[in-house]
Amino acid sequence: MVYPESMRESIKRLEGTRKERMDQEFVMRTADQKKELLKGFHPDYIEESMRELTVGPNKGQRTPHELADVLEAYPVSDVGGLDFGSPDYDVDVLVIGGGGAGVSAALVAKEAGANVLLVTKLRVGDANTRMAQGGIQGADKPNDSPERHYLDVLGGGHFKNVPELAKALVMDAPGVVTWLEKLGVMFDKEDDGTMKTIHGGGTSRKRMHFCRDYTGAEIMRVLRDEMLNHDVPEVEFAAAIELLTDSKGAVSGAVLVNLETGQKRIVRAKTTILATGGCGRLHMQGFPCTNHYGATADGLVLAYRVGAELAFIDTIQYHPTGVAYPEQIVGLLITEKVRSLGAHLVNSEGNRFIYELESRDITASAIIRECREQKKGIDTPTGGVGVWLDSPLLDVLKGEGFVRSSLPAMFHQFARYDIEMDKVPVLTYPTQHYQNGGILVNGKAETGVKGLYAAGETVGGIHGRNRLMGNSLLDILVFGRRAGEAAAEAAKAMKQAPEIGASHVGPFVEELKAAGVPKDRRSPKLLPDYRRPEMQGRYAFLGPECTPA
Ligand code: FUM
Repeated sequence: MVYPESMRESIKRLEGTRKERMDQEFVMRTADQKKELLKGFHPDYIEESMRELTVGPNKGQRTPHELADVLEAYPVSDVGGLDFGSPDYDVDVLVIGGGGAGVSAALVAKEAGANVLLVTKLRVGDANTRMAQGGIQGADKPNDSPERHYLDVLGGGHFKNVPELAKALVMDAPGVVTWLEKLGVMFDKEDDGTMKTIHGGGTSRKRMHFCRDYTGAEIMRVLRDEMLNHDVPEVEFAAAIELLTDSKGAVSGAVLVNLETGQKRIVRAKTTILATGGCGRLHMQGFPCTNHYGATADGLVLAYRVGAELAFIDTIQYHPTGVAYPEQIVGLLITEKVRSLGAHLVNSEGNRFIYELESRDITASAIIRECREQKKGIDTPTGGVGVWLDSPLLDVLKGEGFVRSSLPAMFHQFARYDIEMDKVPVLTYPTQHYQNGGILVNGKAETGVKGLYAAGETVGGIHGRNRLMGNSLLDILVFGRRAGEAAAEAAKAMKQAPEIGASHVGPFVEELKAAGVPKDRRSPKLLPDYRRPEMQGRYAFLGPECTPA
């Protein structure tokens, strides 16, 4: 065990209170107490962290500066001069994004008879889907129902969710779980063959289906195999840098750039599905994040430029339990499942301070309060702070060996640093995890712009102002499949290949100029920029034209 002496004192206190904590009943906060916690400590409530957008469909609405900086930005490359006469690809349905939403959309569209192309800026499967740990919700037990699931989704979202979307989510959920199982996802089962299910924060029934603590990796493994089995055409390392439109503003494809060679390629498509994921790698307020490297809000940027409205762009999800120590893995996820199974959050004095399965925004706020206001956090030698997650308690509650067998990925993640989480607690602090908002769609995954569909984390409205655990692996598949079906159907109804062009870019650029947006601010960002400051903002693969002066 490698915790320094300064951290070991509080571990002794935690061990000393374990027995008494096990007998302690912890009640949920009242609505007023929750409001107070959010207002006082949730990062979204920091006034200076956001600003009003000055251009585009959401002009006048507030969003974090980091997201505003990519929405209010010039194109990375002038696509207007490209030769649109002979596109490199001509398809019915273009899917942009190779995570769970994109792949499920492509599979369903292909099954519906469409000529599909999936493009992704990294490799198929390089996405947040693969990193999801805890599980996928689906009301398929006798004591549960989609109605109960719906109420939980709305409660978690502070009753701001778009009802049509929340309804689609919960109604499709049991069918999606069955679909996955049929494809070969190896869910954890009881001895009698029924699915194991547990609670997540904010759930009134145990409806979280899981594959140990690597549910997303297992789902992505199977979806990717399915793509190969069905020969869905794919192009990897091909980042979409602009959507294409016809003269009426309908989306009709995209411009791709090869991330290795800088070559541009034009795709003409009757319909286009954005499934590009979230924005964690923008690092709101400097928070670390749980996300994949590709999570840079590209879909939001592209959709915004063609006039698609975004929803709930002022709300970001901070997962309560990111790693706070050791430094090498700060911000990575410690799955909520650890708390679902019974682990306590414990402060430096050895005390619990919040019911661990409050919804995420509340639990995260309580941890921030405990560390920042109450000063009952545990300081790390590298200047961080956090509270303990009493993981050894799980072996006490459920028997020796439980942590290693139920949380193998998590165990391994810490064991690499000589921290054996079945013997010592792990230190945790909130980390940026999810964008609650995104492109507004309807129940068919249609955006407000003709020809453009969206699915997965790039979409907003389903989860209102706060998503519950296990509803993201679910929504990517529910809306991925719906997008695939609707986009294929619309494409089939189009008799001719659409016109392609980029005439929407000019007016957007004029808006940027009028708003005084700095000329060297460009997007989509495509990858996070961890280079030294003087190198940042340069898109080396696009050549000198995209290197700011
Ligand atoms: O904590 C987790 O395992 C995360 C799950 C989710 O965001 O749905």
